[in-house]
Amino acid sequence: MSGTLVSPLLRHLNAADRGRIEDITRAVGLFREDEIPVALEVFDDAVGVGPRADPSRVATGGDPYIALGAEIDGALAGWICWGPTPCTLGTYDLYWMAVDPALQGGGIGTALILEMERRLAGQARLIVVETAGRPDYAATRRFYEARGYRAVATIPDFYGPGDDQVVYVKGRER
Ligand SMILES: CC(C)(COP(=O)(O)OP(=O)(O)OC[C@H]1O[C@@H](n2cnc3c(N)ncnc32)[C@H](O)[C@@H]1OP(=O)(O)O)[C@@H](O)C(=O)NCCC(=O)NCCS
Repeated sequence: MSGTLVSPLLRHLNAADRGRIEDITRAVGLFREDEIPVALEVFDDAVGVGPRADPSRVATGGDPYIALGAEIDGALAGWICWGPTPCTLGTYDLYWMAVDPALQGGGIGTALILEMERRLAGQARLIVVETAGRPDYAATRRFYEARGYRAVATIPDFYGPGDDQVVYVKGRER
């Protein structure tokens, strides 16, 4: 749907959204099947039911994982999850994002990433995103680059033979 911009409603995700989030994440067709449970672990942590969820941190206004969904006409069309990177000062990871393939290119991913950045303003020194260097991730890399993320490192063969990891950052320049 490239060219047609939509205005999604952004809202916090909750445990009841898990099935739809799983469907969207699988439907994008980029992630290996063994990556789907990892995405759902991140989701579970963010909605407070996963093994790493820490309700005390949430209760004290600490720094939990956050998962936001984008709704179009009352249905979830995409999601994003971010959180503080352990053992860092002011570094945050964009842990996962995905948009329903039928609705990609319509501005939903941009709305989600801008909302993450808005919420992290004044709090995050650095936002880090790790993605793949494979040709089928070219559109994903373009998406991050067009939104001001800089590729600062590549780890050859990280995800598998010939499947590099590219690390993008956005934040205060040194
Ligand atoms: C990457 C992704 C989250 C972007 O969301 P989106 O809603 O398609 O993005 P937007 O519509 O806001 O932005 C479109 C831009 O993203 C890029 N893009 C990435 N994937 C695209 C796709 N399938 N269709 C159209 N544009 C895409 C284009 O460069 C486009 O640039 P333009 O605005 O200059 O035309 C989404 O395409 C997606 O879920 N991709 C598969 C999963 C994925 O790669 N997740 C990130 C893993 S690290």
